[in-house]
Amino acid sequence: MSKTNVLLVGAAGETGGSIANGLLEDGSFEIFALVRPISVLKPAIVRLQERGVNVRKCDLKAPEEQLIEALADIDVVISCVGPAEQQDQIPLAKAAKKTGVKRFIPCGFITVAPPGGVMWLRDEKEVVYNQIRQLWLPYTIVDVGWWYQLSYPRLPSGRVDYAMTSGNDEIIGDGTMPTALTDLRDIGRFMALIIKDPRTLNKKVLAYSLVSTQNEIYSLMEEIGEETIDRNYVSEETICSRVLAARQASETYPFDPIKFIPRYLAEYQYSWGIRGDNNPEYARYLGYYLTTELYPEFKASDFREYLESVIRGTAKGVYQDRVVSRKHQRHFPRTESSDSLYTRIFPRTESSDSLMSR
Ligand SMILES: NC(=O)c1ccc[n+]([C@@H]2O[C@H](COP(=O)([O-])OP(=O)(O)OC[C@H]3O[C@@H](n4cnc5c(N)ncnc54)[C@H](OP(=O)(O)O)[C@@H]3O)[C@@H](O)[C@H]2O)c1
Repeated sequence: MSKTNVLLVGAAGETGGSIANGLLEDGSFEIFALVRPISVLKPAIVRLQERGVNVRKCDLKAPEEQLIEALADIDVVISCVGPAEQQDQIPLAKAAKKTGVKRFIPCGFITVAPPGGVMWLRDEKEVVYNQIRQLWLPYTIVDVGWWYQLSYPRLPSGRVDYAMTSGNDEIIGDGTMPTALTDLRDIGRFMALIIKDPRTLNKKVLAYSLVSTQNEIYSLMEEIGEETIDRNYVSEETICSRVLAARQASETYPFDPIKFIPRYLAEYQYSWGIRGDNNPEYARYLGYYLTTELYPEFKASDFREYLESVIRGTAKGVYQDRVVSRKHQRHFPRTESSDSLYTRIFPRTESSDSLMSR
């Protein structure tokens, strides 16, 4: 049987990397990575090419003729771009309509939340979804739970710092709000099922493995790590005032990361921690299909086993190779406080520093 041709945008990123792995493992797809010219030599892209992924050099911001060229013979598009790049997908969707793409998966992959003013990042995505629907382009929207990789707290001994992006030392509200969780590494395996499934065409799907609370996650870490973790509860009032302050600060220039990163981080906490949006029951109410029901045979990575690997020192952290480009720094000069924010979101490693000097 001939393979389905998939064009993957963001293959060097965290979600895109998982999807490349999942589709390669499945074996029924020919994978094409749409890669910006500046990124073709990234180690992640070179490694994917060695595993049989074809590279189509193109930027989402390229003229339409180039996007159409990148879409030649493509059946399915999967896009996994970062928060500031959501609307850059619109020209690709328009080009995909012209080339007859059979299914377009815009960059969802976010926690469940309603559209319309709760989360700026959700609303950016909804702008793209509305464009897709206006084009009458076949689509699937896939959202996921909070990544396992971002969900656990730091241990006082520092044993798990190697795998952490931030200290993650806040418990939202009283820590009892149930939230859906997904192992980042499972997203690609879910995608291999979802894009083959006619039931998910023009539908929304929540791909998740379990539901837990922050208190439960803390207790599990304490039990496995045999350490006591301080409980730093942050009240609803504090979260709401953070959201308000971040919204006011980001109004004038939403794409300055110094302003929009605190905004979407605070809104995430507000949405899953206070409102309790990120759970399967609410997803079903919003019209999502649930992977637990679509694919009951799917064996998700076990959360406890994942935390054991973190504590053993064998887990892989996320965003470990992240760099802030020089062009970006010129646009948004960094101050001492912005630097500390950057290092939380984009931790700098020796290798990322050496990439920066290129
Ligand atoms: N549920 C959760 O817990 C959670 C956590 C984090 C993120 N997310 C969601 O996941 C989504 C993807 O985030 P991520 O962190 O996986 O992304 P990421 O690692 O930042 O990767 C983004 C990718 O997009 C590519 N890209 C950006 N602009 C492009 C352009 N103009 N042309 C071509 N490629 C372009 C980048 O290419 P280069 O390689 O050239 O830079 C990069 O490979 C986000 O939108 C967010 O909503 C969810």
